[in-house]
Amino acid sequence: MNARLRPEDRDDPAAAPSSAHGLRPMLPTDLDAVAQIEAAVYPFPWSRGNFADSLGAQYHALVLTDTQDTVCGYVVAMPGVEELHLLNIALAPATQGQGLSLLMLDAVTLLARADGAHLLWLEVRPSNVHAVRVYERYGFYPIARRRDYYPALDAQGRAAKEDALVMSAQVGDLLQRRGLNPA
Ligand SMILES: CC(C)(COP(=O)(O)OP(=O)(O)OC[C@H]1O[C@@H](n2cnc3c(N)ncnc32)[C@H](O)[C@@H]1OP(=O)(O)O)[C@@H](O)C(=O)NCCC(=O)NCCS
Repeated sequence: MNARLRPEDRDDPAAAPSSAHGLRPMLPTDLDAVAQIEAAVYPFPWSRGNFADSLGAQYHALVLTDTQDTVCGYVVAMPGVEELHLLNIALAPATQGQGLSLLMLDAVTLLARADGAHLLWLEVRPSNVHAVRVYERYGFYPIARRRDYYPALDAQGRAAKEDALVMSAQVGDLLQRRGLNPA
């Protein structure tokens, strides 16, 4: 797997949000940094063990790094039969809002193509309006809602549940929409 996505891999290099960041496979030595970001950005974070299990299961797992190889974000996706399930995507707070998720989403789209997957799908909290908008802009569309899927807290801070919005996209549509080169 060539997980490093550079601006020159795209038809329109100017559309790449950053050349100061790159992607590489997640390594066991990244787990502390990844778990630290996870705990900073989610109210109900994955544990370090969840990421270790993802590596053990050979899911696709990439980290976004800066020029010093500092981990700024990560993405984990689980291959299925002709589909790829995006399980987790996150950026450290200081690197959010710069469009860097596009680099990770493009990498996932290219991995889906390399796997021969036709469909990409994910679950997201409807309350995570930034993420929902990012996915919509990227080309995902809502296909279902899973009731009471996520743990949550109600207004009084008591344990509650939140639905999941299930979103999906055809890999071919994303490749075309994003102008990603053939292999
Ligand atoms: C969701 C996430 C991956 C989006 O990545 P990103 O590269 O930061 O996205 P963008 O730069 O395209 O920003 C998306 C929108 O959120 C806004 N935004 C992103 N980060 C923000 C922040 N920290 N504060 C305020 N607004 C922010 C942007 O202004 C933009 O708004 P717009 O849609 O009105 O233009 C990233 O914000 C993140 O890691 N969030 C925490 C983890 C998470 O929720 N993951 C998704 C789980 S399904």
